[in-house]
Amino acid sequence: MHDIDVFEYAPTADKYRLERKHRPVKQLGSHQVRVAVKAVSLNYRDHIALHNLARRQVGGRIPCSDGAGVVAEVGAGVTRWKVGDRVMGSFFATWKEGPFQMAHHQHDLGGTVDGMLGSFVTLDESALVATPGYLSDLEASTLPCAALTAYHALFVRGGLSAGQTVLCLGTGGVSVFALQFAAAAGAQVLITSSSDEKLARAIELGATHTINYRSHAEWQKVVHELTAHRGVDHVVEVGGPGTFDRSMQSVSAGGHIALIGVLTGFGPPTGSLFPLVARNIRLNGIYVGSQEMFNEMNQFLASHQLYPVIDGVFPYDQSPQAFEWLASGHHFGKVVIDLSATH
Ligand SMILES: NC(=O)c1ccc[n+]([C@@H]2O[C@H](COP(=O)([O-])OP(=O)(O)OC[C@H]3O[C@@H](n4cnc5c(N)ncnc54)[C@H](OP(=O)(O)O)[C@@H]3O)[C@@H](O)[C@H]2O)c1
Repeated sequence: MHDIDVFEYAPTADKYRLERKHRPVKQLGSHQVRVAVKAVSLNYRDHIALHNLARRQVGGRIPCSDGAGVVAEVGAGVTRWKVGDRVMGSFFATWKEGPFQMAHHQHDLGGTVDGMLGSFVTLDESALVATPGYLSDLEASTLPCAALTAYHALFVRGGLSAGQTVLCLGTGGVSVFALQFAAAAGAQVLITSSSDEKLARAIELGATHTINYRSHAEWQKVVHELTAHRGVDHVVEVGGPGTFDRSMQSVSAGGHIALIGVLTGFGPPTGSLFPLVARNIRLNGIYVGSQEMFNEMNQFLASHQLYPVIDGVFPYDQSPQAFEWLASGHHFGKVVIDLSATH
């Protein structure tokens, strides 16, 4: 191996573009592992970075938190992995267990540090998680961010139990994983989408009720009708300021909102926050999850034989097109880049 083929964020006047580069191969540190990346999946976060929507400096950085591959080389002091092991990167390379610490923000793959969109990546041995044996690398690449966020929201912080009701907004990566997890746990799942076709796919995955948020702009009223005016036990809130008020109106007294996303922007929510108080609502901010949660989630996935839903696989050299497909919002579930031909 002479060099490593990567994409980098290259600055333009007001955002970034993806630029293909070759980097020299560096000798591994004692506890480092070189991973031959087989697949990378995209998250809305990668769209935010590329289009500079959060005003974050990512110039020269390798994009994407989510990837899966095979250990190609290990440093002299590595004990956890051996060549040939199948592994995934961990979104926060340093968040192993316990509560979140602000220092982990300095170690988010594809943000503050280099991510997974390259033929090989070098990571500390402690920043990797074992791939579930029954999943392909394409499937496993979808787990580190979207799946773990949904799992953390529903089970770790939400305490979801069978028989409860869950509302998922839209049919992107986080929401489709939340639908699959909640249905597997025996919950009733309500899900919204701009597309009736996507809602039909959601029913096949176990959704109990569907709502088109384009034809029902006041979708919170439909949620109330569908829940005998009680509201849902959990809302997986990925919309942000443009949906938060309706999410608040959709949740039951004593219910739970997992605040996750910014699909409608980064501004403050419209409307009063007082319903949170008056109805004793639990509000949890969720930022992906720890490796301990990741391993627990992998056991849940395997025990329920859940398969990630992939809607769009692009070859590595078409990575920019993969980003465009994600930005179009036409996908249902996850968009994946296949790097298997790069080694
Ligand atoms: N806090 C965290 O740890 C964390 C982790 C992952 C993601 N996120 C955030 O969560 C959000 C979702 O991420 P993702 O990667 O799952 O996104 P994604 O796959 O790109 O999801 C896009 C889908 O969201 C739906 N959508 C867009 N605007 C909507 C609206 N106003 N109301 C309802 N649905 C809407 C659309 O579904 P339809 O086509 O069905 O209408 C669209 O196809 C993003 O804001 C992302 O930054 C946060």
